[in-house]
Amino acid sequence: MEPWRTAIATSDATNIWIRGRSVTSLMQNATFTDTIFLLHLGRMPTPGERRLLDALLIGMADHGAGAPSCATARLAASGNRSSISSAVAAGILAIGDDHGGAGSNTMALIAEGLAQAKAEGLTPAAAAMRTLDAEMAARRRLPGLGHRVHTTDPRVKVLFDMARAEGIAGDGILFMEALEAQAAKRIKVLPMNIDGALAAILHDMGFPPPAGRFMFIVARVAGLTAEVAEEYAREKPMRIKFKVDYDGPPPTDE
Ligand SMILES: CC(C)(COP(=O)(O)OP(=O)(O)OC[C@H]1O[C@@H](n2cnc3c(N)ncnc32)[C@H](O)[C@@H]1OP(=O)(O)O)[C@@H](O)C(=O)NCCC(=O)NCCS
Repeated sequence: MEPWRTAIATSDATNIWIRGRSVTSLMQNATFTDTIFLLHLGRMPTPGERRLLDALLIGMADHGAGAPSCATARLAASGNRSSISSAVAAGILAIGDDHGGAGSNTMALIAEGLAQAKAEGLTPAAAAMRTLDAEMAARRRLPGLGHRVHTTDPRVKVLFDMARAEGIAGDGILFMEALEAQAAKRIKVLPMNIDGALAAILHDMGFPPPAGRFMFIVARVAGLTAEVAEEYAREKPMRIKFKVDYDGPPPTDE
């Protein structure tokens, strides 16, 4: 049988290596954020990249028990008191195109828009304008823009200021800023959300589009574990009840 092939990690009787680096050395000299970066890109981050990825992970760790992933984990924990892993997994399963996963779709849009623009010598702002035209014509929502709660997402400016200060900001940030500005003129004010900021920064740091969703999951698992722990520690089994109005066919004896 052919062996599995991997370039990520290996071990022998007394050692473990991640991307060729000794785990014990990483444990002594690196951070968890460094290790996430190393696992995904195969190299250590620069100090600026470490700071930005760390800030992104902090910004996505939790957003309140009512956020879809947290609420789903809470509901699973409330109904099933014997499996913390299924409660955390339930929370992850709530992550998708509309919640927590829009970063990947946004990164794909940025990469595609900028690649076309580069081939034709257009600026990132002109590329964003063309992407907006195409998405509006297809009647699709723009990933990375809009929020159910925030009129301004407080995390976005902080992240972009940090990216500029650390010399990481590139065409991805310019593209998303232009997309937000043009969408405000042509659709309505749609504040950039954390997935949009995440996408711009991960693009500028060289991550591929799936990383937008992976990094959200990595960060949100920290929050989900705390949400599930609190549900078990503070609440009674089956405490979550919803008021449900039935509007189907009237009940009969048949
Ligand atoms: C986050 C989101 C689900 C909030 O939706 P919402 O609460 O319905 O948004 P609003 O009430 O502010 O706006 C609703 C209207 O604006 C439009 N709209 C909202 N977000 C839009 C977007 N990103 N692109 C284009 N149009 C958008 C909707 O089409 C809707 O119009 P309609 O009533 O004619 O259908 C929505 O903005 C969205 O789908 N964003 C893209 C996905 C995303 O980035 N998700 C991550 C969220 S953190």
